[in-house]
Amino acid sequence: MTTTATPLLEVTGVTMRFGGLTAVNDVSLTVGEGEIIGLIGPNGAGKTTFFNCLTGLYVPTEGAVRYRGTLLPPRPHLVTQAGIARTFQNIRLFANMTVLENVLVGRHSRTKEGIFSAILRGPGYHRAEAESREKAMELLAFTGLADKADHLARNLPYGEQRKLEIARALASDPGLLLLDEPTAGMNPQETRAAEELVFAIRDRGVSILVIEHDMRFIFNLCDRTAVLVQGQKIVEGDRETVQNDERVITAYLGAPLEGTTPAVTETDQ
Ligand SMILES: Nc1ncnc2c1ncn2[C@@H]1O[C@H](COP(=O)(O)OP(=O)(O)OP(=O)(O)O)[C@@H](O)[C@H]1O
Ligand SMILES: [Mg+2]
Repeated sequence: MTTTATPLLEVTGVTMRFGGLTAVNDVSLTVGEGEIIGLIGPNGAGKTTFFNCLTGLYVPTEGAVRYRGTLLPPRPHLVTQAGIARTFQNIRLFANMTVLENVLVGRHSRTKEGIFSAILRGPGYHRAEAESREKAMELLAFTGLADKADHLARNLPYGEQRKLEIARALASDPGLLLLDEPTAGMNPQETRAAEELVFAIRDRGVSILVIEHDMRFIFNLCDRTAVLVQGQKIVEGDRETVQNDERVITAYLGAPLEGTTPAVTETDQ
């Protein structure tokens, strides 16, 4: 689907070492405009560490991350400003804030109004705040949480907390959304609904890179899937390429990834 010479995301030779452990080993990956790309691999393969290298939480030991052709500085707020948003494997919400307030926090990186404007509460501030609220409510409607806007985040069921994380991530107007195990803890119906949500996000013009253990989810959604094993990308391609690859089969405990039956649906956290 990539028609332009410059991919949206271009990761070249990223390596992340922690002391003697090489958690990510020379991984390159591209995501084109409008693509949904999967990232799978056994527990501890380095998937979350790879995301952390893309979003500035970790400074990679080696390698480069480019977004729309520009080198990304390894600083989370600059990565968000550039246009990459993410959700976390372990949900990170402000538990004692309302659902709406959580989304407004995600909007912060896109509002021009500074601290003085907020203190003085001039017309610019009120206009910006009204716009942010409108945008946040639109995102809550989009993710199916509009009627929960005034609930405390901690009172939402698990599946809805995951959706709220997505709404908050979208509030920064990203061009690329990174999802780390978006269906962990969801029941099968919620998981199917999450597939629809991911497609709907892509249809809004946001490309997606998604980590999941649920193979059915991955192969239903993704244009391409990359497999990480012990920090290395061993294969990348369509469903058939990945499912028939001997190294992938061996990595998953010798069990073949048959049809749409999830070979690994277990999530650890
Ligand atoms: N900050 C850190 N310091 C030291 N080691 C780390 C750190 N972060 C991750 N690791 C190690 O890097 C390896 C990869 O971990 P990572 O969390 O990226 O795996 P994962 O593929 O996301 O696994 P899972 O599917 O269980 O979420 C593991 O051995 C982990 O212990
Ligand atoms: Mg992980």
